[in-house]
Amino acid sequence: MKLSDLYPHLLYQFASEADLVKAIGEISTAFTTERHKIDQYLKDPRLVSAYTAFYLTTNIPKLEAVMNFLSIEKREELKNVQLIDVGAGPGTFSLAWKELIGGESVMLESSALMREQAKKLMSGLYGIEAQFKVTDAAKPKLLLFGHSLNEMGVEAGLKYIKENNPQYVWLIEPGTKEVFQMALEFREEMLKLNWEIQYPCLGNSKCPMNGSEDWCHQFISVRHNEEVERLTQLAHRDRRNLPLTVFMFERKKVNHKNSEARIVRVMPKTKFSHEWVVCLNDENLKLEKFQLPFKLNSKSEKKSIEALLAGCLIEFETDKSLEGYRRIRLISPE
Ligand SMILES: C[S@@+](CC[C@H](N)C(=O)[O-])C[C@H]1O[C@@H](n2cnc3c(N)ncnc32)[C@H](O)[C@@H]1O
Repeated sequence: MKLSDLYPHLLYQFASEADLVKAIGEISTAFTTERHKIDQYLKDPRLVSAYTAFYLTTNIPKLEAVMNFLSIEKREELKNVQLIDVGAGPGTFSLAWKELIGGESVMLESSALMREQAKKLMSGLYGIEAQFKVTDAAKPKLLLFGHSLNEMGVEAGLKYIKENNPQYVWLIEPGTKEVFQMALEFREEMLKLNWEIQYPCLGNSKCPMNGSEDWCHQFISVRHNEEVERLTQLAHRDRRNLPLTVFMFERKKVNHKNSEARIVRVMPKTKFSHEWVVCLNDENLKLEKFQLPFKLNSKSEKKSIEALLAGCLIEFETDKSLEGYRRIRLISPE
């Protein structure tokens, strides 16, 4: 999404780039150090517009990155789905859905100013009317909380699910420890309601990170266009390497293979091997340390192995179980 395409459709026109950068700083403070003032930005057209210019543009690529965590078959299945974008803000994930899948969406958003901004963007950029009411019952629904469950809380989130009866529920939230705690609470409630976990857990048993100092989160590496890159540099914010808390639930039974493991942490390489902490399902979910010797991989495999980040899935064979870790061979990625 190019900023120059977006600017004419903001609710507030910034006098200068410096004014925009200042407003981005104010929102960022509200998101981090002044959480008690979190809803203030939703009442000010200047801050809603700054959110749109900065966070909408830098959050949009997250959808594609998160989709890449899924199999090709699953991505195909989702093409026929209606998105219910809960806490849509200016329509970040609805726009991403439109760009990526070409699909339709409904936005459920409590802030009148955000709805106004979303409306202006949809009509300005695509000439279409923003939808704020769920009507089409025929299509399967994917209910997505994009950086919104942490603002509304678990109870309000579950209420949206009950009211809309979706087939899929996704969280794409900030990758912080606090958000992970909330996501765990949400996970527990979803399991009680008989939902299946598609991502990141490879089973429904107790999370091995529950109660630990560490927390499960993912990393994605995204690229922005030049205008957006410039804005992130002026705002002194890294929006390329993003920690996320992603969860995907679905109604249908999900089958995970015993030979699969989810990378939860990429450790520094040793002289002769890659090392990861992974989560796998061995009757129950558990954490293990995996070691993959360089010598087991060809040059062509090296690139895809180097690109593995926390959140990626690997398929493996055990070479040797040793004290405190397991030496493996990769089946995929190849
Ligand atoms: C950080 S913004 C995220 C916007 C957008 N989804 C994104 O990822 O860029 C959180 C949004 O959630 C909305 N929100 C908070 N509580 C809500 C609730 N109970 N119902 C609907 N929207 C809510 C806020 O108004 C705000 O627009």
